Formats: sequence, structure tokens, C-alpha cells
Amino acid sequence: MPGGWHAAARQPSTLGSMTDFLVKRDDLRECRVVASEPPEIEAGRALLRVDTFGLTANNVTYAVFGEAMSYWDFFPAPDGWGRVPMWGFAEVERSEVYNVEPGTRLFGYLPSASHLVVTPTAAGEGGFVDGSPHKAALPSAYHRYLATAADRFYRPDTETVQMLLRPLFFTSFLIDDQIADEGLTRRGPIVVSSASSKTAIAAAFQLARREEVELVGLTSPGNVEFVERLGIYDRALAYDDVGSLERGPATFVDFAGDGAVRLAVHSHYGDRLLHSMLVGMTHWEELQAGAGELPGPAPAFFFAPDRVAKRAGDWGRASLEQRVAAAWHPFCEWVGSWLEPIRGEGFEAMRDAYLDVLEGRVEPARAHVLTLP
Ligand SMILES: NC(=O)c1ccc[n+]([C@@H]2O[C@H](COP(=O)([O-])OP(=O)(O)OC[C@H]3O[C@@H](n4cnc5c(N)ncnc54)[C@H](OP(=O)(O)O)[C@@H]3O)[C@@H](O)[C@H]2O)c1
Repeated sequence: MPGGWHAAARQPSTLGSMTDFLVKRDDLRECRVVASEPPEIEAGRALLRVDTFGLTANNVTYAVFGEAMSYWDFFPAPDGWGRVPMWGFAEVERSEVYNVEPGTRLFGYLPSASHLVVTPTAAGEGGFVDGSPHKAALPSAYHRYLATAADRFYRPDTETVQMLLRPLFFTSFLIDDQIADEGLTRRGPIVVSSASSKTAIAAAFQLARREEVELVGLTSPGNVEFVERLGIYDRALAYDDVGSLERGPATFVDFAGDGAVRLAVHSHYGDRLLHSMLVGMTHWEELQAGAGELPGPAPAFFFAPDRVAKRAGDWGRASLEQRVAAAWHPFCEWVGSWLEPIRGEGFEAMRDAYLDVLEGRVEPARAHVLTLP
């Protein structure tokens, strides 16, 4: 069957039973659904029912870097398999924790599964932090579960855009902030690869609001027209046309992670390249392409949690969140005017959506949103 899909013989849907969507760690095209008994919820723990989440290339990157960046460690799975992390909404189904009430709706980092057991700490009306011991060494940006009722980002009518874009937007906010902070916005074009990806679009949306910024979007030939139509890039070019750019100082923000594209951009600008920021790996099968020495500066990996820690230190966590929330609402409104969700329900729809995203078959103006029964 396509994608090495295995449906488990038993797919329980009764309250309290658990279902997992698992991906083979060393062959991301192989996936299966597994049913299991619900866990006992001991004192200090709560059971979340995963309701709905977005699925974009970002989730595939979590799987591609599951081992190298410990993304598999958030939601441990049987040997050799992984639960792909998702961003979305869940509800507290059972709780043995003071201040964590059943029925509370939460936004956070969720497994590709029907349920998640958490160990809430610092619980209050804003939500809680999952203090599960296996997460202690993992970046804290992924530990918070925010109660929608007290969340300044939340609006019931924009849940879909929130699931799909909120975590990506946070990254994009930080990218825009860092590029401006380093004085790169007025020193030649900012060249963005995978310009049609949501995270790139969110970064470009914010950069485009700054004075004198010139934005060049690099994309696949089939997505050039879409990137042009967005109206936030000054120019849209297919990957093969890098050579037509004027040589001069420039900044490269790389969402594709494609070795051949990176080599082409670095070779074109050489030492005139001011900064090369590696953000994403949408072209996950081309990471090793483009062998050869890379001219210009060494690419610097952009890891959002590190920049969050820096700005939380500079401004305070509350001020950082206020700034992101203020920038979020206009973006959310704009994206909501053109982004078309592809809605699916259940684990079979999840399998189809996952394979579509993995193979790059989703049109850039669309995005998968899954709801679990
Ligand atoms: N470092 C961080 O902290 C951080 C945080 C958030 C996101 N990111 C990264 O940013 C990237 C974008 O994520 P997203 O969720 O915004 O992506 P997305 O909107 O789902 O990206 C879709 C675009 O990616 C390209 N693409 C996707 N799958 C492909 C495939 N199999 N083969 C070739 N091209 C493919 C295509 O763009 P083109 O035709 O334009 O190439 C496509 O239009 C991800 O790699 C994500 O991990 C990094």
C-alpha cells in the first residue's frame, strides 16, 4: 500500500481508549495506526484528549530531525517508531491535579495521537507547564499548554489559522527581529528560499513592513506565480534563476535547506553575502545535495527557542509575548483572507495528509487541518 500504511486491526473510539499515529524513524514514508489501553492517571497527572491540529512541512522537519534534535523524545514511542509532534488544541479529559479542570481547552505541542498524559506544574488560569521528567532536558518553549480562555492570541473564529501558523509566526517574528537587530534590512536584498512556505511568508510579511527592505523570494517553478501574487516580495524567482540577481551585499534566509540551492546562492554572492541563516528544511531529501566548498559565511542555524530565550531576557517574557501578539493579529487577518484549509477527520485522513505534506504535494495556498474523533 502507498506509504507503507498499516491499519491496526482494532481501532477503538470509545472514551478513554488511545490511538497513535506512528512513523518509522528510519523510513518516514512508512506509518501505522496503533491502538492501546488508556493509562492510569495517577495523582499529579492529567490526560489530554487531542482534538485538532495543523500539519505542514514544519511537522515533517520535526520527523526529519527527530533523532538529531531530539524531537522524537517529546512523545516517546515503541522502538524504531516516532510520534510526530503537532501544534493544536486539546481538552483536559481527566485530571488528578489541583487547578487543572476537565473540559479546559488548551493550545500546545501535541503528539500525533488521540491522547497525551501530562504532569502539570505551575497550573493556573493561564494553563500549565508539563513537568514530565522525560521532557526536562528538552527546550522549554515546547512545554507550555495555554488555556484558551486566558490566551491573548486566542479567538474562537481564528482557531484554524492559529493551529497552522501561530508557532511558525513566532519563529518568523524572531527572524524579522534578528535581521533588523543585526542591521541587515538596509544592506542589500534579503533572499528567501522556499518563499512559498508559511514560515517564510510570515517572515516576509513582517520584513516587508520595514522601510527600504528589498525581498527576493526563491521558489519552485510551479510556485513563482503564487509568490508573486502574495504582494509581499519585491521579486519572485525560480531556483534556477539565482544567477539573474544583481551581485552585491545580500542576506540569505534559507527555509528550503536544499544543498544545491544553498551552494548556488553562496556561489553567486560569495564574500558579499552578509549572513546566511538556516531556518528550515522543506526540501528534506536534498539536504546533502550541492557538494563542494561553500563560498561566503558559514550558514548559521536559526533555532527559535534560543532566540526566545534571548529576547525574553532582554524584554521579559510578558513583553515579548505582547509584541508577538500585537504583530500576530494583522497577519492572522491577512492570511485568513487567502489560506484555504484542507479539513480531514480521523487517522486515515491523517495518514493521507501526512504523506501529502511529506511528498510536497500540498499547494502553497492550502494547508491540512486534522480533527480526531
Ligand atoms: N528553525 C526554526 O526554529 C523553525 C521554526 C518554524 C519553522 N521552521 C521551518 O520552516 C520550514 C517551513 O515550514 P512550514 O510549515 O511553513 O512549511 P509549508 O508552508 O508547509 O511549506 C510548503 C512549501 O515547502 C516546499 N516543500 C514542501 N515539501 C516539499 C518537498 N517534499 N519537496 C520540495 N519542496 C517542498 C514548497 O516550497 P517551495 O516551492 O517554495 O520551495 C512548498 O510550497 C520547515 O522546514 C520548518 O521546519 C523552522
